[in-house]
Amino acid sequence: MKQRKLFIAGNWKMNKTATEAVQMVSALVKKVEGLSDKINMAVCPPFTALDRISSILKGSGIALGAQNLSDKASGAYTGEVSAAMLLELGVKYVIIGHSERRQYYGETDEIVSKKAKFALNAGLLPIVCVGETLQEREGNKTSNVITTQLKGSLSGITSDEMLKTTIAYEPVWAIGTGKTASPDQAQEVHALIRKLLTDLFGKAVAEKIIIQYGGSVKADNAKELMAKEDIDGALVGGASLDAEGFSALIKNAI
Ligand code: 13P
Repeated sequence: MKQRKLFIAGNWKMNKTATEAVQMVSALVKKVEGLSDKINMAVCPPFTALDRISSILKGSGIALGAQNLSDKASGAYTGEVSAAMLLELGVKYVIIGHSERRQYYGETDEIVSKKAKFALNAGLLPIVCVGETLQEREGNKTSNVITTQLKGSLSGITSDEMLKTTIAYEPVWAIGTGKTASPDQAQEVHALIRKLLTDLFGKAVAEKIIIQYGGSVKADNAKELMAKEDIDGALVGGASLDAEGFSALIKNAI
């Protein structure tokens, strides 16, 4: 039995209008009723659906997350969304440094650490993502890449702040490809991440940190992944988009 409570979050990416999101979440709330004692759950819809979903989630045991935030407080930054704006809508978690943001929007470890710091200062709980590409894995660079990303992304974070932070290990080659890392492959990197966290923040802190796995997690592979010692949850993309499949995944993970 694990000491850490599993945490499963759905990252909807750029999917669902607010109306579609309301329909999905209304169904999900019924399907996972009563499970929040056993598992922490969150959904991270697009910004445009946060407000309406927030009221549906009240009292459901499912937390609300956002997929990004600005590294500025306010001002002339067209198209950006601030921490205060998210907090007002009842957002608790925020995904930071997802590989799609690193790959398509130029987010560096430095930007990720700035955003994480910003989120924490505002009272949001960051889910900081790291992960290697296929080329990096095949070139035996996985440990180096994960070490650099993790240290860079957490630069300036204190131990107290780390306790409020979740890490998501998402191998880029497993995202949306149907190619899940095997439980052993994932565990190997999760153990490395926990070791790095121990070096940075000490054992007592590192033992408490939730490290999620992400990359083609589905209802039928969740259990074997969660059985691994250092895998404490999942950040789920495609399989979090419908209530039936996502609730089945959550139930299988417990
Ligand atoms: P998939 O579950 O669709 O592979 O996406 C994983 C992911 O990127 C979650 O953030």
